[in-house]
Amino acid sequence: MTSDQSIWASLPVPAFLIDPEDRIADVNSAGEGFLNASKKAVEGTPVWDQIAIDAPIEEAFERARTNGTPLFVNDIDVGSGSRAPLQCALQIAPLLGHPGTMIMIISPRELAGRMTQNHSVKSAAQSAIGMAEMLAHEIKNPLAGITGAAQLLSMNLGAEDLELTDLIVAESRRIVKLLEQVEQFGNLSTPDFKPVNIHDVLDRARRSAQLGFGAHMTIIEDYDPSLPMALGDPDQLLQVILNLLRNASEAADPQGGTIRLRSYFEHSFRLRRSDGTGQSLPLQIEIIDDGPGLPDKIKADIFDPFVSGRENGTGLGLALVSKIISDHNGWVSVTSVPGRTVFRLSLPRVPRGHMDKE
Ligand SMILES: Nc1ncnc2c1ncn2[C@@H]1O[C@H](COP(=O)(O)OP(=O)(O)OP(=O)(O)O)[C@@H](O)[C@H]1O
Ligand SMILES: [Mg+2]
Repeated sequence: MTSDQSIWASLPVPAFLIDPEDRIADVNSAGEGFLNASKKAVEGTPVWDQIAIDAPIEEAFERARTNGTPLFVNDIDVGSGSRAPLQCALQIAPLLGHPGTMIMIISPRELAGRMTQNHSVKSAAQSAIGMAEMLAHEIKNPLAGITGAAQLLSMNLGAEDLELTDLIVAESRRIVKLLEQVEQFGNLSTPDFKPVNIHDVLDRARRSAQLGFGAHMTIIEDYDPSLPMALGDPDQLLQVILNLLRNASEAADPQGGTIRLRSYFEHSFRLRRSDGTGQSLPLQIEIIDDGPGLPDKIKADIFDPFVSGRENGTGLGLALVSKIISDHNGWVSVTSVPGRTVFRLSLPRVPRGHMDKE
């Protein structure tokens, strides 16, 4: 009947045999695809050199090996040398009859699954924003009244009391600013799609960052000059890049830090939707900074509105990024460890024969 070999070869998910010295003893063909390397090239090499995992699982792994028990790890980022990390589930189990040898199966969380996650984020964002927009509108008028009254009062006050009216005015201004940001979010129209030279957008964003909020940062350009045009709305994409640059600049040491703007082409990057249709997203833009990384507490929710790790942060920057990119049928992902945070945007290219309309 079926041989072990054909079962092994047919497994549709990357699978590895790990020997007692943590070297790769065997890899199936899906695993070769995952590593983008042949079995010959990786057999006998240390497994954790080939597969990078962003969580400390060594201890649990050793325990599973010693006790002969399986180990399941959900939702961790797994990368290989040649590709950006993917969110995966790991299943590890001892290989029967071979003490010390472990079988490891990596199940990338389907892009389709991630897409639905993205959609639900979007609609949650939308209802939160609808509500906030309405409130914003309602609060601005009385607030203007309060500010005005405080300014009138201040005319007849001594220095000590002046401090209090100044506080009222300053805090009211801060609220108005917040409300304006909320309103800007609500005003976002559907993208005006046209061919966009991404490098122009990156350049504009870089220049404006260096004149203002990013003056303390070193910004390095690492562009693929042959990158084709993207299909998108240049103003909205500029907003996205600015928000990402601003976050990186705000997270950095006030003494400065480095941001790398990288573009490259990845022919095979496709987004699969749950309805079975697909979208090719070959243009990759990465904004990489060497700052402290995302705070652990909010790591999972940073694209949700009003999630902020900063004092005085509104938490709308990344929600806006997520909304714009998803309106572009694109994809945004992030990987972050202290010293290296990568926001990656994946966008569609202009279809051949594209004129002015979509
Ligand atoms: N490059 C980065 N490095 C470290 N932390 C980051 C980075 N980008 C975002 N963050 C974290 O994610 C949080 C959410 O970012 P987001 O842009 O959505 O909101 P915000 O910057 O707090 O407020 P706003 O952008 O509305 O002024 C930030 O507060 C920060 O803690
Ligand atoms: Mg921000």
